[in-house]
Amino acid sequence: MQQLQSKRIVVGITGGIAAYKSIELIRLLRKSNTEVRVVVTPAAAEFVTPLTLQAISGNAVSQSLLDPQAELAMGHIELAKWADAIVIAPASADFLARLTVGMANDLLSTLCLATTAPILLAPAMNQQMFAQSITQQNLTALSVRGMTFIGPNSGEQACGDKGFGRMSEPQEIYDALSKLFNQQQDLSHLSVAITAGPTREAIDPVRYISNHSSGKMGFAIARAFAKRGAKVTLITGPVNLATPSNVRRIDVTSAQEMYQQALQSAIEHQLFIGCAAVADYRVAEIAQQKIKKSDNEINLTLIKNPDIIADVGHLTVNRPFTVGFAAETQHIEQYAQDKLQRKRLDMICANDVSGGQVFGQEQNSLHLFWLQGNKKLPLTNKNELAKQLVNEIIARFKEVQ
Ligand code: PMT
Repeated sequence: MQQLQSKRIVVGITGGIAAYKSIELIRLLRKSNTEVRVVVTPAAAEFVTPLTLQAISGNAVSQSLLDPQAELAMGHIELAKWADAIVIAPASADFLARLTVGMANDLLSTLCLATTAPILLAPAMNQQMFAQSITQQNLTALSVRGMTFIGPNSGEQACGDKGFGRMSEPQEIYDALSKLFNQQQDLSHLSVAITAGPTREAIDPVRYISNHSSGKMGFAIARAFAKRGAKVTLITGPVNLATPSNVRRIDVTSAQEMYQQALQSAIEHQLFIGCAAVADYRVAEIAQQKIKKSDNEINLTLIKNPDIIADVGHLTVNRPFTVGFAAETQHIEQYAQDKLQRKRLDMICANDVSGGQVFGQEQNSLHLFWLQGNKKLPLTNKNELAKQLVNEIIARFKEVQ
């Protein structure tokens, strides 16, 4: 398949009777000109010999984290960076549990922790082990972290049991891997403008009014869209974050500057997402010189800034699909739904920002509202949350096309 051609895949094999099927998976990958490196756990090496895997994959097989020779050839961090994707087949119950808690006690689990590449897991185990609630919880946790699963299938097992636990067939795993790459670029026909971070409203040449937004949420959304091939413009207030790959970044400082850039971008993109914490007010008259602290009190007159997302929502020509955020500390659903209507949005993402739990933090949870429904996205890190949010936005966007 085209998607896998010239890709660099680490095939991880853990201990289980299904390990022999991985030989066929590697053969399929090699047939489509994929570069394969195999990593086995000590238990896997009991089921399938490294010599066979080396012959099939065309590369030396990595087995141990503490092998100086193997580290000389390609160290574990190098391997983690080299991979375009990691596929683990079979993925045993033990390995899934270790992966869930973030252990790095063998080469394969260390690789998974050290990589930024997508990970595809093909679980295989006894049907009762698969049905256990702890295994199911582990699968959910890994899925929330962005890992993808194929199988297991139902059927007769080596132990004689029947039920879900059989590893998917090599061709199914191969197809799932192709889909993973295909899906990554599935939004290449879309363009999206996103606002992020805080704005700064000058008081005098050295002072300003702002808020605690770090830009993490908005940058995570930009990254998630760009990873799936969308054309992304990110209009950001002052933040201390690197620009995600394949994202066009426009830096602004004040709400008025953000307004100009955002309104221009809005009509040029199909989607608009307002994640910035825009200052609602600015100082009426910015002092030309530094204000001296001679008086005990000073009075600042604040005037309202334009509402960027409301003006985008009310566009009558070239209006993009418009998604706003609502940062609330109380009456979250009510206030969010009010903003959805008032600003004429297609969707609003409400977050409970009471107690300093969202601004600047790594994690967030969202309650999404649109005219016909709502959905909660549970607490997770902002990158994972952004991936889920992109899926929801695309689903709603497709409904109105
Ligand atoms: O940046 P992080 O540290 O990761 O934190 C993320 C976040 C809390 C900033 C983000 O998740 C969030 O909630 N962003 C919106 C913050 C906000 O200003 O909410 P609001 O309820 O005051 O505004 C509602 C909507 O109107 C927002 O889409 C906002 O971008 C928009 N707005 C507000 C005022 C204004 N003048 N123009 C606007 O477009």
